[in-house]
Amino acid sequence: MTLPFRFDDGALAFAGAATQAPTSPEKEEAPPAVVIQLDNVRVSFREGIVAVNDASLIIRRGEFVSLVGPSGCGKTTLLNIIAGLVERTSYTGRSEIVGNAPMAGNRDIAYMLARDALCPWLSAKQNVELANRIRGVDKKTCRSTALRLLDAVGLGNATAVYPKELSHGMRQRVALARTFSLDAPVLLMDEPFGALDVFTKIQLADVLLDLWGQERKTILFVTHDLSEAVGLSDRVVVMGRNPGRIIADIAVPLERPRSMKELQKDPLFHKLLAEVWQTLEGGLGE
Ligand SMILES: Nc1ncnc2c1ncn2[C@@H]1O[C@H](COP(=O)(O)OP(=O)(O)OP(=O)(O)O)[C@@H](O)[C@H]1O
Ligand SMILES: [Mg+2]
Repeated sequence: MTLPFRFDDGALAFAGAATQAPTSPEKEEAPPAVVIQLDNVRVSFREGIVAVNDASLIIRRGEFVSLVGPSGCGKTTLLNIIAGLVERTSYTGRSEIVGNAPMAGNRDIAYMLARDALCPWLSAKQNVELANRIRGVDKKTCRSTALRLLDAVGLGNATAVYPKELSHGMRQRVALARTFSLDAPVLLMDEPFGALDVFTKIQLADVLLDLWGQERKTILFVTHDLSEAVGLSDRVVVMGRNPGRIIADIAVPLERPRSMKELQKDPLFHKLLAEVWQTLEGGLGE
């Protein structure tokens, strides 16, 4: 299947664009391409039990979207569907990722979890290089990418250090560098900073904002921390439970670039936080 677009150095090039006439200035710019699309997704792992009901979601290229909701409402399940990790027989409805049906091992996707899953026998640099090595990227590119990203996450001086010598926050920095190293246009992040203390969390959120600002990936980010969701995102998608479902999609019109620390003093940030909290509370169910 030929895609109508391709990712190219972070820019979207429409097929055949070079032969098209230039767009007239009055013409409205087309919105960025849809990268993730779920239509009426209904998940049932066991007969008679609906894990997620009727979830529809559109995420466009370069958007940062957070998914929040009570435990068990289906956040990880939706990420797993997008990553192609849920059997097709377990859900109905349509899902499309960068124009294709979900599939495990999709190179358009990098998936980051709360657990860093670093290999203890490899140094920080080797851990970041590993995924690209497996994908067959040449050694020199693996090395330069790893060093650039370790520097970007503040570990430029710790490239030769092994995971056991790193703090939890530092290990998550390595995992963040590894996630970005894959050069996938779509990042799925499932509570990546969930087990960190508040201060480290804020620091890492700022590192993520910086990286995202430079590379403009499309990010779907799951968190239980509402202030993290509002601070990072363009939209916060709120889920409810019994059954798991999407109950709201709240736009976050805070200016960018942002700093999590500075946002704490912004009244609009607190207003949005209250809105997300009230929406979430309304969807808790029985
Ligand atoms: N592979 C599976 N087999 C059977 N049931 C599953 C499977 N994966 C998830 N579930 C069920 O689907 C529901 C949603 O689970 P999911 O892990 O998506 O929730 P979540 O919103 O990510 O929760 P948490 O915030 O605790 O991580 C739960 O009832 C869970 O038990
Ligand atoms: Mg989960």
